[in-house]
Amino acid sequence: KSIVVLISGSGSNLQAIIDACNSGAIPGKVNAVIANKADAYGLVRASEAGISTQVLSHKAYQDRDSYDLALIDAIDQYQPDLVVLAGFMRILTPAFVQHYSGRLLNIHPSLLPKYQGLNTYQRAIDAKDTEHGCSVHFVTEQLDGGPVILQAKVPLFSDDDVASLAERVHEQEHQIYPLVVRWFCQNRLQQRADQAWLDGNVL
Ligand code: GRF
Repeated sequence: KSIVVLISGSGSNLQAIIDACNSGAIPGKVNAVIANKADAYGLVRASEAGISTQVLSHKAYQDRDSYDLALIDAIDQYQPDLVVLAGFMRILTPAFVQHYSGRLLNIHPSLLPKYQGLNTYQRAIDAKDTEHGCSVHFVTEQLDGGPVILQAKVPLFSDDDVASLAERVHEQEHQIYPLVVRWFCQNRLQQRADQAWLDGNVL
């Protein structure tokens, strides 16, 4: 399967997916990494892995619609079976989401539907939650609202700060994201309307 990954930053989830492709755990290949920021460290990870990279800065476009159309053009050069958002910090237009419907994944650092949007770690700490986590979901037009495929929970301790909690969650992200990509590339995972299905069972 052909995979395109979109990033804005460090790319540690990208790295976990690259590693899982290289080990054979994912029957697929990351054919391109596209970033909206030239200084995204994930671009270095991609280059080191011999993967094509492209920077498409949103600052060069007048509006969200024109940027997303250019993004579709860039992505479709690689004829992806799957598009993976891995810390891509942009809200996507309905046109973009519809174009990749059923083959667009995201990871979000909360136990969805809790804490959609930004600053999830601080919000969980402020709420004195005793657990936090991450969710992999299909992307729909609803921001962080698409059907959840897999979640991982971690404890949240009273002396945690954002850094310590984020580190604990990241460890789990690096487990569950490659696993979901593996399922997708094995043709076991499907989005049907607002549901995610694995091996013929609704999740
Ligand atoms: C992850 O925490 C993910 O949940 C969020 O953005 C972060 C990306 O981290 N969507 P990285 O760039 O993969 O290291």
